[in-house]
Amino acid sequence: MAKILVTGGLGFIGSHTVVELINAGYEPVIIDDLSNSQHKILGQLSKIVGFKPVFYQFDLCDKQKLIHFAKSEPDITGIIHFAAFKAVGESVQNPLKYYNNNLTSLLNLLSVYSGESVDFVFSSSCTVYGQPDELPVTENAPVKPAQSPYGNTKQIAEEILKDAVTSGDAKKVISLRYFNPVGAHDSALIGELPIGVPQNLVPFITQSAIGKREKITVFGNDYNTRDGSCVRDYIHVVDLAKAHVSALKLMESNTFAGYDVFNLGTGNGNTVLEIIFAFERATGIKLNYEIGPRRSGDVEKVWGDVTKSEKQLHWKARLGIDIMMSSAWEWEKYLAENPL
Ligand code: UD1
Repeated sequence: MAKILVTGGLGFIGSHTVVELINAGYEPVIIDDLSNSQHKILGQLSKIVGFKPVFYQFDLCDKQKLIHFAKSEPDITGIIHFAAFKAVGESVQNPLKYYNNNLTSLLNLLSVYSGESVDFVFSSSCTVYGQPDELPVTENAPVKPAQSPYGNTKQIAEEILKDAVTSGDAKKVISLRYFNPVGAHDSALIGELPIGVPQNLVPFITQSAIGKREKITVFGNDYNTRDGSCVRDYIHVVDLAKAHVSALKLMESNTFAGYDVFNLGTGNGNTVLEIIFAFERATGIKLNYEIGPRRSGDVEKVWGDVTKSEKQLHWKARLGIDIMMSSAWEWEKYLAENPL
C-alpha cells in the first residue's frame, strides 16, 4: 500500500481526501497542527473508515520536526499539501503571517524531500486567475496580479514548484486549482468547520438556517450577471477529494513527467442567489437574506473549463448543487446535535 503524506489532513478538503485515499487503497499519514481544525476529526474519520489514520501533530514551519517525521516515516511515496491559511480578509490584515506560514511550510517540504521520487500534489486556487478575460477559464489563461496576500501565496507557491521541478529538487508535481468547494461527506460525520463567523457563503447559509446567524447578506446585486449577484463554480468536496486520487494515479503512470496544473470545478457557474434558492429547494428551509453592498476584492464571475482534467486526470465532478446543499445541511445539523 502506497503511503501518502497528507498535510492539513484534518481540515475540510484534507479530511475528505483522507477518506477517498483509503477507499482507493492508499495509506494516508496525516500531519496537521490543528490551527484551523480539530483533533476530534480523527475520531470522525475512524467512524467512516473503521480505523484511526496515522496522525502527527506539528507545524510544518518547524523544519526539525519535519526532518524527524521523514526519518520516522521513511517510505512516503506521495505528498498532498493542503496545510495553509486561507482567509482572504485576514491575509490583507496580516500578510506576513500568510507569507510565512504558506510559503515556509512548502519550502520545508521541498527541501526535506529534495531529490526524492515523491509525487507532490499542491492545493492551489482559481484565485490565481483573478477576473478572467474569457470564461470558462482554462489553465492557459494568464495569471492576474493577486487580489490578496492569500492569493499571492498560491501564485508564488505554483512558481516555486515549477522551478523545483526544473532544477530536479522535485520530480513530479501537480497543482490543482480549486474553484469553490462546498458540501460534506454523505455520512455527515465530516464537513467544513469554520472558526468564528464564516467568511464563505455556504457555511454562512447553513449557520443561518440553524439559527446561529440572523441573516445572510448577498454581497452585491449590481454585477453584470444573470441576476446581478456574483457567479462561482461550486464543486462538491467529495468530487474534489477524488481528484487528488486521480492526480496521484496520473503521476504514478509513465505518461506524466514534470509539472502541470489542472482546474477542479464543475464547468458551470451559479450566482449567489441561485445558491440560496438551491439550498431552500434542497432542504425545504426558507432563508432570511438581504442584498448588501459589494465585498471588496470579489471578482464578478468565474467558472472553470475542466476539459483538461477530464481528459488527462480521467476525472469529472458528478455531484450537483442539490446534493452540495443537502449534504452541507446534514453536516450542520449533525454539529448542532454533536458539538465537536
Ligand atoms: C475566494 C477565492 C477562492 C479561495 C477562497 C478562500 C476567488 C474567485 N475565489 O472564494 O479561490 O479559495 O476565497 O476563502 O477568488 N458571498 C455573499 N455573502 C456571504 C459570503 C459570500 O454574498 O456572506 C458571496 C461572495 O461575494 C461570492 C460568493 O458568495 O460571490 C462566494 O464567496 P466565498 O464563499 O467567500 O468564496 P470566494 O470569495 O469565491
